[in-house]
Order: sequence, then C-alpha cells, then structure tokens
Amino acid sequence: MTTVSEAIQARTSVRVFEDKQVPKDVIEEILGLAGNSASNSNIEARKVYVLSGEPLQTMVTEITTGLYSGEDPDPPEYPAYPPKLQEPYRSRRYACGEVMYAALEIPREDKTSRIQQVMKNYTFFGAPVGIIISMPANMLEGQVIDIGIYLQSLMLLANERGLATCAQASWAQCPNRVRSCLGIADDERIMVGLALGYADDDIAVNTLNHPRAELTDYVSLRGF
Ligand SMILES: Cc1cc2nc3c(=O)[nH]c(=O)nc-3n(C[C@H](O)[C@H](O)[C@H](O)COP(=O)(O)O)c2cc1C
Repeated sequence: MTTVSEAIQARTSVRVFEDKQVPKDVIEEILGLAGNSASNSNIEARKVYVLSGEPLQTMVTEITTGLYSGEDPDPPEYPAYPPKLQEPYRSRRYACGEVMYAALEIPREDKTSRIQQVMKNYTFFGAPVGIIISMPANMLEGQVIDIGIYLQSLMLLANERGLATCAQASWAQCPNRVRSCLGIADDERIMVGLALGYADDDIAVNTLNHPRAELTDYVSLRGF
C-alpha cells in the first residue's frame, strides 16, 4: 500500500493517458474515500460530475468544436491569476510553461502548436475519466479552500491506485459551455476539472520534474 508520503512525492501532472478504461468500482472507491476530506464546518459545498464514455465524448466534442469555431469565449468563472503576477510567481509560472513545452519540443515561436496543446485541456488530455467540480455560486474563499483539499484527496487516492491525474483550472475558462453540456444551473460555479486515467509512462511530458521553492522561501518556523 502506498503511503501518503509516497503518493505525495510520486504524484505528478499527467497530460497523455493510455487508452484504457478505469473500472467503475475503482472510481467509486476513490470518490467514497475522498468524501472524508475536511471542509470548514463540514459543509461539503461541492458537486462532482464524473464523466466517462459517451457523456465524456459528447462534452469534449461540443466544447472543442465551439472553441475552434471562433465563437465568443465564455467569461471565465474566476481569473486564473491576478492581472499582474508579481515576482517570484511570474518567473515560476514562466519556468513551468518552459519546462512543459521543452518536453513537448514545441518552441516559443510555434504559437499554433502551443495553442493546440492548450486546447488538449478541453479533451481532458485524452483521459478516460473527466471530473468537473462545482460549488454553489454564493460560496466564498473559505469554500474554495475546501474544494482544493478535496481535489488533492482525489489526486492522492488516484495515485495510490496506480492512476494519474491532471488538475485543470482550464475548465473554469469556459464555464457556460460546461454548464450547458452537463445541464448544470447558473447557481453552480465551475471551479476545476480533473483528468483521470492511466499515464502513458513513455512520454517526456508525463515525467516533468518541476523544481519546488525552498522551504525558507515561504515557511516561517517560530518557537522551535
Ligand atoms: C488548481 C490547479 C489547476 C491546474 N490547472 C491546470 C490546467 O488547466 N492545465 C494544465 O495543464 N495543468 C494544470 N494544473 C497543473 C499544474 O500546472 C501542475 O500541478 C504544476 O505545474 C506542478 O506540476 P506537478 O503537478 O507535475 O507537480 C493545475 C494544477 C492545479 C493545482
């Protein structure tokens, strides 16, 4: 059995998946266990849409067709970053992209290929399972923390079972389309997606090793 320490070290974002279904009982086990995640006052303000097979394909086709056909983009559910990302966050974000595009062998000037890679978000990177997590529209930052905790639970539980994931804020960039495809009312905010499946281990982009900040950059140990 994988320990939490092992899962947290082994988890990495995967953007190419094997063409292999995830058994329903494994999905149900992950969802059941993730339900134990902490949330402030245990309000569990989330809805979780787990798609596979035909419903997944229908949503992917509808959304990618719409995005490629030059329709107006949706207003994002929330800004992915502040308008002016300051240092050191700006450089970290830049480095993150560079590492990924280097592994994909897509140079900076090749805008078309870079856009195509971004568009793969809207196919869940070909994963056999796509998850959309929403929360009631009147919820606040406190509940966003709870969503993040739940998302991490899903990712670690998946890893423990030999599955791979990629968290995807991209789905919050086209919330109206997601709501329309899934029949979700306007009173739910589309917060994040998660691609879930078996990693293709032979692909460089699945083995990125993003450096992490030193603890001294952001941890303040006091009284030890
Ligand atoms: C909330 C959240 C949203 C993310 N959204 C996306 C996304 O839309 N597309 C994507 O390719 N990666 C996305 N990622 C993956 C991050 O880029 C990735 O976690 C980061 O580069 C660190 O790499 P690692 O996950 O391999 O450790 C997201 C991660 C998180 C936690």
